[in-house]
Amino acid sequence: MPDRILITGANGLLGQAVMHIFSRESDYELIQSSVEEKGYVNFGSDYIKLDISNKEEVKKAVKHYEPKVIMNCAAFTDVDKSETERELCWKLNVDAVKNLIIAGRINNSKIVHISTDYIFDGKHGPYDEKSTPNPISFYGRSKLASENALTTSGVDYAIIRTMVLYGLGINVKPNFALWMIEKLKSKEPINIVDDMIGNSTIADDLAYGLLKLIEKNCRGVYNIAGRDIESRYEFTMKLCDVFNFDKKLVKKIKTKDLNQPAPRPLNSGLITLKAESELGFKPMDTIEGLRYLKYQLGY
Ligand SMILES: NC(=O)c1ccc[n+]([C@@H]2O[C@H](COP(=O)([O-])OP(=O)(O)OC[C@H]3O[C@@H](n4cnc5c(N)ncnc54)[C@H](OP(=O)(O)O)[C@@H]3O)[C@@H](O)[C@H]2O)c1
Repeated sequence: MPDRILITGANGLLGQAVMHIFSRESDYELIQSSVEEKGYVNFGSDYIKLDISNKEEVKKAVKHYEPKVIMNCAAFTDVDKSETERELCWKLNVDAVKNLIIAGRINNSKIVHISTDYIFDGKHGPYDEKSTPNPISFYGRSKLASENALTTSGVDYAIIRTMVLYGLGINVKPNFALWMIEKLKSKEPINIVDDMIGNSTIADDLAYGLLKLIEKNCRGVYNIAGRDIESRYEFTMKLCDVFNFDKKLVKKIKTKDLNQPAPRPLNSGLITLKAESELGFKPMDTIEGLRYLKYQLGY
């Protein structure tokens, strides 16, 4: 009987990538779950509707399936809305993680949780796993609080910090790369910031790193993100190269010109050396990630 993994938020961008890679590359028995009535993609595994902010629902599901690992891909991910919808953001990003901890503790399940570079202030990136967090947005504070809940819980856990996820999925929220492809394909000009630095990460590659981490039963904090640390503008230039788009459509702007409600860490980036040496995981660079996306899109 293969070990069982309960995947929460399986209808999201990362959740779908995890279902896709884990079902293709491993023998784990997967339980696909998300807050919606149905799974957006049929992977041939059990689907259950599971709202992780409902403590009793979580306990019941964990008691029933007895997963070896709870892979948490669910979250409130709208960074700007997190500034105004604080109660909901905290409920989904912090209280819900505590529900997973309570259920995991009873069943002895390992919890694998996803965090973000938004726990840093973006003054002195790139960051390694030992860098000191200092979130500057409410979303960042909620994600740091979720990390702290796990590190002080006494359960077996792994926290994976990642950043700027992109990729393809059914009904997923628009992401940076797909938005640009849509605009540039129809020759619409776009404004892209050149002062926000970090490593963009294709969701399938992160999912592959998560699988390695689970297979090796690693514990603690790991950065898993794309190989290249660069500005969003540099990423866009590579996207133009890979997809053959006209670079003249792309205008450089500054982050402050976007007037976003939530402040962003600007000089960020995640150093992935620990994951590379301990998991044997070689992240894709930007060109590889974009070529993979191009293939997925059927170009
Ligand atoms: N996207 C990024 O750039 C990025 C960067 C760094 C870290 N991360 C982290 O990576 C993880 C995955 O992000 P993602 O981009 O895949 O986000 P996503 O596409 O928004 O997926 C999150 C999923 O969680 C679901 N969900 C929301 N509330 C739930 C609940 N109470 N119970 C169960 N499911 C619930 C959402 O459903 P609805 O859509 O119906 O709300 C959605 O399907 C998150 O922890 C996020 O913080 C993301």
